[in-house]
Amino acid sequence: MYTTALTTVAFATLAAAGPLNLRSDYTVGPFNACSASDRAQTSCVNTTAIQDSCCIETRGGQLLQTQFWDWNPATGPSASWTIHGLWPDRCDSSYEGFCDPSREVTGDQITQIISDIGGHNLLRYMRRYWKDDASVDGNLWSHEFNKHATCFSSGRPQCYSGIPAPGTTPAKGSTNPRKDVFDFFYRTTELFKGLDTYAVLKAGGITPSNTKTYTLDQIQGAIKTAYGVTATVGCINNTLSEMWYHFHVKGGNVYDGEYLPINGGPSTCKATGIRYPPKVNPEA
Ligand SMILES: *[C@@H]1O[C@H](CO)[C@@H](O)[C@H](O)[C@H]1NC(C)=O
Ligand SMILES: *[C@@H]1O[C@H](CO)[C@@H](O)[C@H](O)[C@H]1NC(C)=O
Repeated sequence: MYTTALTTVAFATLAAAGPLNLRSDYTVGPFNACSASDRAQTSCVNTTAIQDSCCIETRGGQLLQTQFWDWNPATGPSASWTIHGLWPDRCDSSYEGFCDPSREVTGDQITQIISDIGGHNLLRYMRRYWKDDASVDGNLWSHEFNKHATCFSSGRPQCYSGIPAPGTTPAKGSTNPRKDVFDFFYRTTELFKGLDTYAVLKAGGITPSNTKTYTLDQIQGAIKTAYGVTATVGCINNTLSEMWYHFHVKGGNVYDGEYLPINGGPSTCKATGIRYPPKVNPEA
C-alpha cells in the first residue's frame, strides 16, 4: 500500500462552499500550485485567458453529473437514482471521448487503486449507487473513466504534484501514481450525494407509480425549486430514464473546484404523460 497525503481534514474553502462540494471523507490532489489569476476564474465564463489548463478546466468546461433511473431491470435501492458518471462537455455542449488510451484502466484496476489508497467507504458507496444494469459494476466504472475522465484538461496526472514516474516505486509520503483515478470516483460520488433526484422529485409530489404520469414542467419545477436551474431530463418511451445536472467549475480544477449549477439542455421526454415506474424487484 502506498502512503498518501490523504487526511480527514477538509479544505476549508471547499467545506464552506456548500453541499455540492467536497466533504471530508478523503482529500483530492495534491495538485500543482495555480496562479491567483487562474484561481479567480470559472470554466466557460472566464474573463481572462486561463494560463494553466490544470488549474481551470479548459477542455470540457461544462461538467455533467449524470444519473440513471434503472427500473427494469432495477439497479440500486428502490428510493434512489444511481450514478452514471461525470462528463466533460465543451462550453458549446459538444463533447469528445476516449482522449488518452495510456490512462485507461479496467474495473479490477479501479478497485485495486481505490483500496490501495484506503478508499473502502468509497468502494462500498460505489457498489451500492454506481451500478451497471447489464454486467459487473466495474465495467461501467472503467467505461466512465476511460471515455470521460481522460478528457479533462485539469485532473491529468501532470496536474498533480509529487507523482512518481511510471514504473517506479512511490517514495513514502508521495502520491499514489493513480490518484487521478481515485479522485474521479471520489468527486463524482460526492457530487451525486448532493443531487438526490429521488428526494427532490418526491418533494415536488413526483413519486414512482404504475398508474400516474407527470408533466415535464412538474419535473423541471421540482428540480428548479431544489437547485435553481433546470436539468436535462432523459426519457425512453416517455418513461424517465436519466437526469443530467450541468455545471461550470469555479476557482479550481474538476476535482477541487466549486461546482456552480447551470441550466440543462433539451429533454427527450414529451411535455406530458411522462411515466416514472417503481423499480421492479429492487434492492432494499
Ligand atoms: C478563457 O480561457 C481560454 C483558455 O485560456 C481562452 O482561450 C479564452 O480566450 C478565455 N476567455 C476570455 C474571455 O478571456
Ligand atoms: C412504451 O409505453 C407503452 C405505454 O405505456 C407500452 O405499452 C409499451 O409496451 C412501451 N414500449 C416499450 C418498448 O417499452
